[in-house]
Amino acid sequence: HQLMAESLHIINGFAREYFSKTLLESEEGQNVGVSYFEERGFTQDTIRKFQLGYCLNEKDAFVKAALAKGYNLEYLQKTGLVTIRNEQPVDNYRGRVIFPIHNQSGKIIGFGARILVKSDRAPKYINSPESEIYVKSKVLYGTYFARHAIDKLNECLLVEGYTDVISLHQAGIENVVASSGTSLTQDQLRLIKKYTNNLTILYDGDNAGVKAALRGLDLAIEEGLNVKLVLIPDKEDPDSYVQKLGAPAFREFIEENKQDFVLFKLQLSMKEAGNDSVRKSQLVNDIAETISKIDKVEDFTKQQDYIRQCSQFLKIDEQGLINLVNKFIRERL
Ligand code: CTP
Ligand code: MN
Ligand code: MN
Ligand code: MN
Ligand code: MN
Repeated sequence: HQLMAESLHIINGFAREYFSKTLLESEEGQNVGVSYFEERGFTQDTIRKFQLGYCLNEKDAFVKAALAKGYNLEYLQKTGLVTIRNEQPVDNYRGRVIFPIHNQSGKIIGFGARILVKSDRAPKYINSPESEIYVKSKVLYGTYFARHAIDKLNECLLVEGYTDVISLHQAGIENVVASSGTSLTQDQLRLIKKYTNNLTILYDGDNAGVKAALRGLDLAIEEGLNVKLVLIPDKEDPDSYVQKLGAPAFREFIEENKQDFVLFKLQLSMKEAGNDSVRKSQLVNDIAETISKIDKVEDFTKQQDYIRQCSQFLKIDEQGLINLVNKFIRERL
């Protein structure tokens, strides 16, 4: 197992370097790949820092180079870099720009490969398949580049995509990681918890964005994280919005729009419930359950604060909410 993992790391490392070289040193890499990144506003420094790359739009340029170096075809397939078509090995990321995914110590565990022009016939991103070294539910893109900033600022920003992480770094905001489009898992939240207790989620304000963020809230609270939320305006994501506003205005936007996620959830469900009394009592239950997941021993005052604020907001008796919260705690014992 250890040997397999090591082999896959080595192959990915070779591929990373090969795709970087292709981007920076080939004509097609310059004309197609670098032009694409430049149009998105990425600087040369950014391209180098994140070790971005390009895979030639040829059938098997990469796999030929890898086989010539002596790498094993079976392992090349395992990394997802190569597939077999008509009994021939072919490159999987042909004509795509490449985002290497680093583990916490900087080794390459996978790739995201983006198509240049959106198409109905091909997915926007092709990501590495699960393997001994790439377990999607345990990975947050950008941890390798963000860990010191997270440590220093005692806060982790969470975004959806590769390019969000990259653009925020370029704007001088370095305490940021991405969930890569999936809903947050317990393993990912534990990874964040290793560095900080303070998580700020930056998702887009459309329904899907809010829903995705809400799904992670209870899990994050169970892990003992303080969760805040910033809703990015509709049709934007942190990448497009920081490029649009510029770094100083974007930072200001974040600071001014940061809100407590539990209170946000409460307000949102109040709005949705309207005058429906059944839905109202359901939402009291929901919020009590969320609050009950705060660790009473570690964060007693935090739980008390939420109970006070939520009961005021809901115009219900504080003791009633305390009883309900305690009921949920007892049920889990
Ligand atoms: N994603 C994916 N496959 C897709 C679409 C998205 O794996 N077909 C993942 C990627 O990790 C992506 C993230 O979900 O970065 C967020 O998706 P989206 O917002 O659609 O992409 P962006 O990151 O905004 O990428 P871009 O700006 O290049 O369109
Ligand atoms: Mn450190
Ligand atoms: Mn969206
Ligand atoms: Mn985007
Ligand atoms: Mn996006």
